[in-house]
Amino acid sequence: MTQDELKAAVADKAIREIEPWLEKDTVLGIGTGSTANLFIDRLKPLRDQFRGAVASSEASAQRLKSLGIDVFDLNSVGTLPFYIDGADEVNANLQMIKGGGAALTREKIVAACAERFICIADQSKYVSQLGNFPLPIEVIPMARSYVARQLVGLGVEPVYRQGVVTDNGNQIIDCYEFMIDDPLAMEARINAIVGVVTSGLFAERGADVLLLGNQEGVERITTS
Ligand code: 5RP
Repeated sequence: MTQDELKAAVADKAIREIEPWLEKDTVLGIGTGSTANLFIDRLKPLRDQFRGAVASSEASAQRLKSLGIDVFDLNSVGTLPFYIDGADEVNANLQMIKGGGAALTREKIVAACAERFICIADQSKYVSQLGNFPLPIEVIPMARSYVARQLVGLGVEPVYRQGVVTDNGNQIIDCYEFMIDDPLAMEARINAIVGVVTSGLFAERGADVLLLGNQEGVERITTS
């Protein structure tokens, strides 16, 4: 199977995972990216079985609306039963690097409100150590150079993602040459730098379930 077919297979599996739990008042948390898009597309036939969704990006919100699915402001809903999203890298503890699509902050906020984070990914995203994919960090624009200097002090090679403005009006620094030994500690350390909005390291709030597509099928991996 191709990578796109693997992404489609995990999107199908995620639908089967959540469908039995959908109720008229259910609001789903929905992520961003090509795998999340495939999941969004598969929600269309189910749209009368749940109330709507909170999206982690304007792009996902537009896609949901175009399929006739209501999109809510997170402030108007309470806890979400599920957050479904892809990842750039995920390890065996279901900690992730996310934010390749620059939606990391909203993704982290929506994930924080979810009872269950279902990560959908193809085998290429599964790694023994996080860091080969450059870690994105969202920064307040005026703090960009300051944050970059602090990151150099951590042994990182920071690169400004030119021309990208996040949905929150901020900028992205990508951290290269940065294999992460202790994701929990590193997430806390980076988030403590003044001017950082958040990092794309999802260690404190990792996934609860990983649906991982490989040539044998879709593996369901949990932390417990
Ligand atoms: C966007 C993300 C995505 O989940 C991540 O980039 C994976 O994307 P894709 O499913 O297209 O491979 O974090 O900010």
